[in-house]
Amino acid sequence: MIVGIDVGTTKVCTLIADVSRDLTEVLGVGIAPSQGVKRGVIVDVEAAVDAISASLRRAEQQSGFKAMSAFVGVSGAHILSTNSHAVINLRPAESVIGFDDVSRVIDGTRIVQLPPDQEIVHVVPRHFIVDGRDGLANPVGMTGHRLEVEANIVTGSVTSIHNLMRCIQPVHVELDALVLEPLAAGKAVLTDEEQMQGAMVIDIGGGTTGAAVFRDGSLIHSCVLPVGGFQISNDLAIGLRATFQIAEEVKVRHGSTIEYASGNGQMVTIPDYGRGEGHSVDQRIAAEIIDARLAETFELVQEQMLRAGFGYAYPAGVVITGGSSQIPGTAALAFEVFGVPCRLGAPRRLHGLADAVRGPAFSTSVGLIEWGREQLDQSTQTEPSTGVGRAGATIRAWLRNFFA
Ligand SMILES: Nc1ncnc2c1ncn2[C@@H]1O[C@H](COP(=O)(O)OP(=O)(O)OP(=O)(O)O)[C@@H](O)[C@H]1O
Ligand SMILES: [Mg+2]
Repeated sequence: MIVGIDVGTTKVCTLIADVSRDLTEVLGVGIAPSQGVKRGVIVDVEAAVDAISASLRRAEQQSGFKAMSAFVGVSGAHILSTNSHAVINLRPAESVIGFDDVSRVIDGTRIVQLPPDQEIVHVVPRHFIVDGRDGLANPVGMTGHRLEVEANIVTGSVTSIHNLMRCIQPVHVELDALVLEPLAAGKAVLTDEEQMQGAMVIDIGGGTTGAAVFRDGSLIHSCVLPVGGFQISNDLAIGLRATFQIAEEVKVRHGSTIEYASGNGQMVTIPDYGRGEGHSVDQRIAAEIIDARLAETFELVQEQMLRAGFGYAYPAGVVITGGSSQIPGTAALAFEVFGVPCRLGAPRRLHGLADAVRGPAFSTSVGLIEWGREQLDQSTQTEPSTGVGRAGATIRAWLRNFFA
């Protein structure tokens, strides 16, 4: 059983899934409106705890299982990504590489210079090198003198992480691990080929836009911007001189990019509840406002990727997901900015009660389960003596090695 809790800016989603067979079978879904979260970060612990426990309760009720531990999504502009390299000498030389050696070399990547207010969220091993042989996914069982690893280190603000943990404790669920939300989204929407060849997922949510680049099957870079659908609606409210709720409705019902707006000046009536007749707006004006914010968001992602040296690391393309990816024309606009194939993505490989979480707003939630499942598979594959029955106990031991 794997439990994932995605504490989003707009909604909290808990999934309880059975991963004991080849497929991911969703047994329980709990969706609750979010509160106490701004731009992906907890700003009011008490309010967030209420939302999380409402979501958890619903998922537990539906599944008939009590959640004992969970993978919890972490997001926000405080998230930073850096790459690190570590080396160990194997003793005696020419010895067979074991689970302990792998853990030891991965631990070595943690010795990186971090800003004082940042702590490691997780360490994602990208690939191993044994005596100069590069690009190895799993060195266990090989022999050599020298073991090296390249890892991606994701860090986040101590305070923001601490506040998120403070929200999980009161709901009586043990933390399996914090998982970077765009990393989870990538696991849910990118194909294995895309993750191997080099692709980027962009999750445009309510208060954040998270991006994660994968290559050779691993995360290589990520960033989170503090802008999402909320800011689009806010721009519309200002531009159309309407309330936020009306702007949100215009966006969801009539919004699009400029290219996808109806060309014949179709008018949208905005009611002006209690203050007169309301006014009509050209759909193209709304589209111009939406388009400007979306294009700027994509440009910011591209700028961050170029600055970090990963601007050309996603030849297989960009996959856009998250609730705000439903604005018509989003993928075509992304293509104009990134110049590589861009498509929309929603969770793949789902069974059971999956209908409720098939949409792009649930990519992160489903990805938390996928990530948990991958850790479980890895722990059973990597430790030679581990039987499948011990997987539950082993995963925590394995994760303790990777997560702060
Ligand atoms: N059909 C739609 N068209 C356009 N936007 C939509 C549509 N449906 C939902 N949205 C927008 O999607 C956003 C919510 O997306 P999502 O559920 O992915 O956010 P979240 O995960 O709660 O937030 P975050 O990941 O930023 O913390 C809202 O801003 C909402 O207006
Ligand atoms: Mg989200």
